[in-house]
Amino acid sequence: MSKFIINGRRPLRGEINVSGSKNAALKIFPAAILTREKIRVLNTPEIEDVLRAQEMLLALGHEVKKIKHGVIDIKFNTQKCVALPPELVSKFRASIMFVGPILVTCGEVHFPHPGGCVIGAGTRPIDLFLDPFQKMGAKLEIKDGHYCLKAKKLKGVEIFFSKVSVTATESLMMTSCLAEGETILKNSAMEPEISALADFLNSCGAKIEGAGTPTIKIKGVKKLNGGEYKIIPDRIETGTFAMLAAASNSGNILIKNCEPKHLEALWVLFDKIGVNFVLNKDNVLIKPAKKLSACDVITHEYPGFATDLQSAYTVLMTQTHGLSLIHETIYDRRLLFADMLTQMGANIIMADPHRVVVNGPSKLHGRKLMSPDLRAGMALIIAALIAQGKTEIDNIYQIDRGYEKLEEKLKKLGADIKRIN
Ligand code: UD1
Repeated sequence: MSKFIINGRRPLRGEINVSGSKNAALKIFPAAILTREKIRVLNTPEIEDVLRAQEMLLALGHEVKKIKHGVIDIKFNTQKCVALPPELVSKFRASIMFVGPILVTCGEVHFPHPGGCVIGAGTRPIDLFLDPFQKMGAKLEIKDGHYCLKAKKLKGVEIFFSKVSVTATESLMMTSCLAEGETILKNSAMEPEISALADFLNSCGAKIEGAGTPTIKIKGVKKLNGGEYKIIPDRIETGTFAMLAAASNSGNILIKNCEPKHLEALWVLFDKIGVNFVLNKDNVLIKPAKKLSACDVITHEYPGFATDLQSAYTVLMTQTHGLSLIHETIYDRRLLFADMLTQMGANIIMADPHRVVVNGPSKLHGRKLMSPDLRAGMALIIAALIAQGKTEIDNIYQIDRGYEKLEEKLKKLGADIKRIN
């Protein structure tokens, strides 16, 4: 297993680039199955989850060609198989996104339960995907932990999601593009990645209205054309770098090539905390602040405060003055990593699996740690960068799943970080 060795408390300053959004990039590969024409993808982040999504398309028989860094061409070939390879499905949860496009184009799909970050109780459920496909006319069989969906054709229906889910919304939105008639998705997620995907599909001939609002209407069409998809900047990476800059509080840090308007919930909190920052159209400048004050947060679906930013925010709260309540509403294992911050010297009380109280500020010190999942792993890196002494973070595949060229980017800011393979 690879690990990072970090010597903390180096002053951090300079410029850092934001890569293309992981959560946007992951969806273009399954979406490519909906068209027989070429798709060119720009600003693709080279991260492990996205590489797995490319491997999935290759395994299904399609062509994926890297033209240069960030530029990928995808070309439809005859669908070689309708079964998702279990070894790939176990590696990333977004593999479930391939199910709908294969079902609507081939009439059949087989797959095991998807893997991914262990941040919810037991295995993360997939009912929000399975139930709507059945409502649209598919037959589901479950045998020995494997799912099989079959449908000669899918029919547009009205679907009310009992929970707001990003990938379920995207999955049904994509699949309905080629279903018969009109599909209406209610209580849909509203993340910018969903609007970006809808804009792209519409540019290929889809008829989607309302993406970015809770009600999305999709009129089925016979076929989709190819096109070019520029991946939007990663708002989670942007917010994470902003919190690193605020927590280290050691110099000016300019976060470049981002979309600050996708992070309004974070900027409102920054104002309350007293972070010294300037928002521009495509960059954010964070400057050292005199005093940072604690502030409570509740995670919420977009446009609320993203659960994916919660762990980095918890680290930031260890450096602010006063008590803050962190309330994680989406996943029930996402706060467990706070125990590792306590081991580093943070004063954190766990009220229950969904809530911790941070009493700051605390001096953190280096430790040997294991990255539990993608976002918590990144939060541990922030903690290590501001801690006194040496921290070793093991299991960094989890972090490589979502952050591109991380040590290169952090070194440019002045961080002392080394990867050991
Ligand atoms: C997406 C993001 C992830 C982010 C999450 C919440 C991608 C690839 N990942 O994950 O980074 O943390 O949104 O913003 O875009 N649920 C069910 N049944 C289902 C599916 C989900 O009950 O079939 C529940 C989950 O347990 C969770 C909630 O719905 O409590 C939201 O999960 P969901 O939005 O589906 O997360 P993902 O789309 O997997």
